[in-house]
Amino acid sequence: MGKLTLPALVRAVEDLPALPAVVQRVIALTEDPKSTARDINNVLTQDQGLTAKVLRLANSAFYGFPRRISTVTDATILLGFQTIRSIVLAASVSEMMKRELRGYALERGELWRHSQATAVGARMLAREVKFSRLEVAYTAALLHDIGKLILDTYLRDEYEAVLEKVEKEHVTFLAAEEALLGFHHALVGAKVAEKWNLPLELVEAIGFHHEPERAQENPKLTAIAHIADCMSVSLGMGVGVDGFLYRISPKAVELLGLQEDQVDRLFANLMEVLVDEDTFGE
Ligand SMILES: [Fe+2]
Ligand SMILES: [Fe+2]
Repeated sequence: MGKLTLPALVRAVEDLPALPAVVQRVIALTEDPKSTARDINNVLTQDQGLTAKVLRLANSAFYGFPRRISTVTDATILLGFQTIRSIVLAASVSEMMKRELRGYALERGELWRHSQATAVGARMLAREVKFSRLEVAYTAALLHDIGKLILDTYLRDEYEAVLEKVEKEHVTFLAAEEALLGFHHALVGAKVAEKWNLPLELVEAIGFHHEPERAQENPKLTAIAHIADCMSVSLGMGVGVDGFLYRISPKAVELLGLQEDQVDRLFANLMEVLVDEDTFGE
């Protein structure tokens, strides 16, 4: 298989499932200051499977709630609209992301673990640099590698060629993807985010998570997604072959005003959270 053409790519993105109507409605409700926890409950509980998953995530150690949250209304009141939105989004993309991605040498569940680890790291990092919208940082990081779901199929045939290029020419995995397929997973991910009608800042953070210097809409958000990705890769969270030659961008570090001791502390904190089996509520 040669390069992926633009029409073929558009078709592949079209084939990816849309966000379920329930999820889209919950997202809209969380953006409307007039809605109530009960409104969110009424919409979300139309999907029992999703409701169960949302409650499981809300009760995971990550949110550290001392008592058991048993209804969507309680979860919304206790955790807030922004948090419930990211939980609902996480619950709905988790199945998609749990697939094995052979083109990236990722076993079943590995992309999902990597995405969750990155999301947790992004939230910590956002708090550390006083980026006030923690949940936006979480969501950007959770979805940053979503393009891999689409490129995986194409990459299987080109896999050897990509690896060879990475090894012989010492180019990044991203550059090899682009050279051999015509697109890399970050740009494809941005297309998916557009299809899902996600805000421009999220589209950008996904599209530029490997090249944060290019961000214009919300450079700090993209820098957070990038650094969190590097952190979870360095901690060995489901990297597959994408981890080759992946370096942290000094510009992103500078933009966030991150000091070395802060980075060290974040690494230590993230590692601590990740070794706790209960972190993700699965
Ligand atoms: Fe990536
Ligand atoms: Fe990644």
